[in-house]
Amino acid sequence: MDLDITPWLNMAIRWLHVIAGIAWIGSSFYFIWLDNSLRPEKGEKEKGVSGALWAVHGGGFYHKKKYLVAPDHMPDDLHWFKWEAYTTWLSGFALLALMYYWSADLYLIDRSKLDISNLQATGLGLGVLAAGWLVYDGLCKSPLRKSNALLGAIWFLVLIGFAYGLNLVFSGRGAVMHMGAIVGTAMAANVFFIIIPNQRKVVAAMLAGHAPDPALGKAAKQRSLHNNYMTLPVVLIMFSNHYPLLFGNPYNWALLAGFSICAMLIRHFFNLRHKDEVRYGYLVAGTAVFIATMLFAAFSQRGFSSASTKNEVTFSQINTLIENHCTMCHAQSPAYDGFDAPPAGLVLTSKADITANAARIYDQVVIAKIMPLGNETGMTEKERALIGQWAQSIK
Ligand code: HEC
Repeated sequence: MDLDITPWLNMAIRWLHVIAGIAWIGSSFYFIWLDNSLRPEKGEKEKGVSGALWAVHGGGFYHKKKYLVAPDHMPDDLHWFKWEAYTTWLSGFALLALMYYWSADLYLIDRSKLDISNLQATGLGLGVLAAGWLVYDGLCKSPLRKSNALLGAIWFLVLIGFAYGLNLVFSGRGAVMHMGAIVGTAMAANVFFIIIPNQRKVVAAMLAGHAPDPALGKAAKQRSLHNNYMTLPVVLIMFSNHYPLLFGNPYNWALLAGFSICAMLIRHFFNLRHKDEVRYGYLVAGTAVFIATMLFAAFSQRGFSSASTKNEVTFSQINTLIENHCTMCHAQSPAYDGFDAPPAGLVLTSKADITANAARIYDQVVIAKIMPLGNETGMTEKERALIGQWAQSIK
């Protein structure tokens, strides 16, 4: 029996990551909706209640009330929401480490961009996660905190800077995934360092018989609102692995920016609508940005893959490229250490094999740029363009 535990571990952690993420994002969406939907109670007002709401779900009625800053006595049983966030971050980090750090040479490093060791790549990856949080937290503690719009805009520009920079040093896939990790880390750190500690301080003040400081609740609310807008781009990045069109594009940082603007505009439409402010402009603008980003992606990709030589590409040129860059792995008995069978069952040693797999080769080499794996052989953009031209010509 041949058992390689790594892919199973990868699957199990990914499964956990998605489940925890659903629970976290679900409760985040729910509470933002609830906050926006609360209305002042009619008739006799209970002390401290800032809004209430009736809802029906799962065969029963719910009556929710929000106490601002807190009720006058501590309830016996109080639910906290934190493990959803922590589990999502921990499992996400484990995945990042398992795939992009443990096998950095295969998934994170692109030697044609920057030739670094696994350890250096890991250090760089961890460094940007920490840097992201420090910048964001610094912004939130600066006078900018008074304007969510201005703070959000600056944080967004910082993130585009990160995305641009990461794409210069990491593989497209590794760069895009790190953007998800930077934002996801800031979101989880919001829960861990701000939201939960502030809530603890409020509870402690109440138990001690003092009035809690309203600034604590306000700061927590602000971070939780930021998380609500940051969620959407992160979810896109979570499954972006399936879309070489996104991470393989040379302007992947611009595409991330475009799709994030789209998501936030549409989110804003819904957040306003829950407050009974219906502004279709945001919905239309979000859709327009989506279409513009998609068109930009398509044109930049086409321009890029046809930017090759004007001359005919001969099969012998392609054959040489495949021999230099592929067959150490994609052969009946691969020479590459650690493979005893052709990966993905793909053998590229004859003209028939190569031609029959032209479309797959195009996808992996030209669009996704994930083959040669980890670009261990240092395939250049020109060589990729040549393969692109050839694959297009035999379509
Ligand atoms: C270092 C070993 C290695 C090299 C070099 C390599 N590959 Fe791969 N290839 C793999 C592995 C491993 C997979 C399985 C998918 C994965 O784990 O990402 C794969 C999968 C593929 C697939 C199938 C993807 C799918 O699921 O449809 C194609 C096509 C492919 N490689 C083409 C190429 C081409 C073309 C080259 C040369 C330009 C190349 N590979 C170089 C290791 C390699």
